[in-house]
Amino acid sequence: MKFFVDSADVPAIAELNDLGMVDGVTTNPSLILKSGRDILEVTKEICSIVSGPVSAEVVALTAPEMIAEGRKLAALAPNIAVKVPLTWDGLKACKVLSGEGFMVNVTLCFSVNQALIAAKAGATFISPFVGRLDDINLDGLDLIGDIRTVYDNYDYKTQILAASIRTANHVKDCALIGADVITAPPGVIKSLASHVLTDKGLEQFLKDWAKTGQKIL
Ligand code: E4P
Repeated sequence: MKFFVDSADVPAIAELNDLGMVDGVTTNPSLILKSGRDILEVTKEICSIVSGPVSAEVVALTAPEMIAEGRKLAALAPNIAVKVPLTWDGLKACKVLSGEGFMVNVTLCFSVNQALIAAKAGATFISPFVGRLDDINLDGLDLIGDIRTVYDNYDYKTQILAASIRTANHVKDCALIGADVITAPPGVIKSLASHVLTDKGLEQFLKDWAKTGQKIL
């Protein structure tokens, strides 16, 4: 399973990238706001650090304007994936932009039918939002499983990019279900290394080591 970082925080992305843990990056207008940076500048900087797909989201609502914005974003770097919303106009933009050879990430997906129609429009990635479904007491992971089944039934090549990942358990469950990609904030990715028994075990080892009176260096 590929790991994308859901962030426009360049130092945080760089830290994970140096560890070889970054297969791509996703941004959205809220993350650009949080970064306090200009969208074109920060997106270009992220693309210079990360070699995998970097999603940059259009903000227009009509297909012609989305296509124009998408072309401008795609011109920033060869690894840009243009992110379009799962609306009828977004699907039209997806069809045109993917036909021009650009990677397209169709975002704000909340149903299997939306994922199905995005695949038919040529999406490279579909982004179902797990956490936001959980927020309204629906099961976001069920949606990931259902999309996996449908895509496998018909051999669609669109990659399932599980988004709105909020917890380490979301990551584990997406891996078990067979999502192609998860995108998660840096804090969630780092939390995958944590276990209370690791901390407890290390504490005991260090106590015992101190009693030996030995040194390695
Ligand atoms: C990524 O593509 C999405 O925009 C993001 O994962 C949404 O996450 P959130 O629901 O935590 O804002």
